[in-house]
Amino acid sequence: MNWSATILTLYPEMFPGSLGHSLAGRALADGLWSLDARNIRDFTTDRHRTVDDTPAGGGPGMVLRADIIAAAVDGVANGTPVIALTPRGAPLTQAKVRELAAGPGVTLLCGRFEGFDERIFDARAIEQVSIGDYILSGGEVAATVLLDACVRLLPGVMGAALSGVDESFETGLLEHPHYTRPPEWEGHLIPEVLRSGDHAKIAAWRLARSEADTRSRRPDLWQRHSDAAGQPPSGAR
Ligand code: ADE
Repeated sequence: MNWSATILTLYPEMFPGSLGHSLAGRALADGLWSLDARNIRDFTTDRHRTVDDTPAGGGPGMVLRADIIAAAVDGVANGTPVIALTPRGAPLTQAKVRELAAGPGVTLLCGRFEGFDERIFDARAIEQVSIGDYILSGGEVAATVLLDACVRLLPGVMGAALSGVDESFETGLLEHPHYTRPPEWEGHLIPEVLRSGDHAKIAAWRLARSEADTRSRRPDLWQRHSDAAGQPPSGAR
């Protein structure tokens, strides 16, 4: 069985979108994963195919109805974990991506409007995930991000196996910068050490740059990294 992605959305035509190209698109064509984008409206029963209603307690916008979402989730149930994309969710991490990529696949619930009736999450054991602290116009782009991150990790998808591991977030640090020919471009030089052929020195330079860049750009990651490094070895605790 290949890794299966099921999408519940009001805009199924947004898929595969960018996932139909490049690495993910080739893997899709090769059958390394499958994609089934389903319209939430197909699970309505009224003449107007209504999916939403006004918010309880008042306020602007519309809320996706729990009964409709439940019918959609139940209708596509295939044993894969169900995740709703929402800015109220837990932040997506590379660890979560690895966990999902190692499983049978995922069912993604894409919201629009003000969001989902909250009762759906407990009633159907749906996890809520956010891709960052900004508001998108819907969950579809976030679902695309999550799938892209998972699919590149599937067996056979990425050419060079090593390029999957030694990257930003796998080590807890941002990755070091990269350079290629020509050695001088518009007066800017490639750091001399990278042309030295001294692999130990190159590794030390890369680690130092990873640390410096993480410290200045991502103080949150740097704090976690230094906390972990400051722990006594597990045997000494
Ligand atoms: N839907 C709208 N904004 C979102 C976000 N930041 N992450 C996930 N889903 C979303």
